[in-house]
Amino acid sequence: MKNSEIIPVLKDRRILLGVTGSIAAYKAVELASMLTKAGAQVDVILSAAARQFVTPLTFQSVTGRKVYGEADLWGEQAHVLHIGLGEAADLFIIAPATANTLAKLATGQADSLLTLTALAVRCPLLVAPAMDVGMYEQAATQENIELLSQRGVLFAGPAQGRMASGLIGKGRLIEPQELFGYVRKVLGADGSLASRKVVVTAGGTLEALDPVRVLANRSSGKQGFALAQAAVDRGASVTLISGPVHLPTPVGVTSVDVESAADMHAAVKEAADGADVLLMAAAVADYRPVDPSSAKLKRSGGVPKVVLEKTADILADIVEARTRSGHPAVIVGFAAESDDLLVNARAKLESKGVDLLVANDITAPDAGFEVDTNRVTLLDAGGAQELPLLSKAAVAEAVLERVVTILGTKEGKA
Ligand code: CTP
Repeated sequence: MKNSEIIPVLKDRRILLGVTGSIAAYKAVELASMLTKAGAQVDVILSAAARQFVTPLTFQSVTGRKVYGEADLWGEQAHVLHIGLGEAADLFIIAPATANTLAKLATGQADSLLTLTALAVRCPLLVAPAMDVGMYEQAATQENIELLSQRGVLFAGPAQGRMASGLIGKGRLIEPQELFGYVRKVLGADGSLASRKVVVTAGGTLEALDPVRVLANRSSGKQGFALAQAAVDRGASVTLISGPVHLPTPVGVTSVDVESAADMHAAVKEAADGADVLLMAAAVADYRPVDPSSAKLKRSGGVPKVVLEKTADILADIVEARTRSGHPAVIVGFAAESDDLLVNARAKLESKGVDLLVANDITAPDAGFEVDTNRVTLLDAGGAQELPLLSKAAVAEAVLERVVTILGTKEGKA
């Protein structure tokens, strides 16, 4: 994802960002910047202590909006401000939230613009604690967190790591990218796939030749991970089954790590049971060595003869199982083609029996494996729609929009 790209779940959403007095306050600047670039309208409230670490101008520069503080509490608009800010918000996130702020929230104190706004809002309240490990572990803090959780306050972190004090332990503010993921999850919660179970496969599988060497492919997993994120943005409960990749798991996703096609097959079978949607974006090996050596093949042993056998076609298996179970209601296949894209993709749509096929020409330099962009054609029984060159995040949005439509049509008919 390019950070400058508008993200539908954030577009025009009103986010209140409360920042309290912690050394981690600088991370809130990056969060405010990311949210703004993604299309959200971010109003920042700084506590008096936060101003010791970051300035209003820093936030104003990245959000392009006025930053609120104690002076506003007694200003001309004071009588409406705390209610007004809260009423308009889709989400109030307090990041970083100090132990002192947690205590105030837990006891309903309203002694500052930030805390009285927290008391006034009706939107979800997401809190990202940041404090020293000793303060975090204190019974008082733990009980405050417990109480706030019971009241429906959502928590993000804290993380384990090195503190400003030099101690190592739990209490660090989670990173802006992860906070961003929490915001997406909360704002997407009542989206078009709310309460739906979505299974996504991503990355390539590895097939062992010996304990050291594998047959691999060039899949980076980027398109599959973008699909998982787009499903979270729509409120789905997402299981992401992935081959070995170097990507962070989107917040809110249950990840299942696999290596071989056989592992992936077993994991997909289990997850697809009762699922509403399967998005089969993984590049699954079609062949594997028949008899992988249990010992490392030695150079002195001569050139090995590698005999391959077919792996199971996971998609075909799930499509076949659906004829009995009815699940998953929507199955999406992906086709990596190097020539005759439309002819091959049309044949694959029919032979695989999927509801939607996402085909891409892997020979194009700006599409397919490893890069951040993709150029795909969406095929279903109704025809083919060629999409322009898009980011993988935008392709994921387009695919998920189709999935929502197909799901609606199928259920309308049922
Ligand atoms: N697929 C699968 N199991 C396999 C191989 C592929 O489920 N053993 C899925 C892929 O995840 C993808 C779709 O089938 O969604 C098409 O994959 P692709 O590699 O394009 O096609 P193949 O079925 O392997 O056919 P071909 O090699 O002839 O292109």
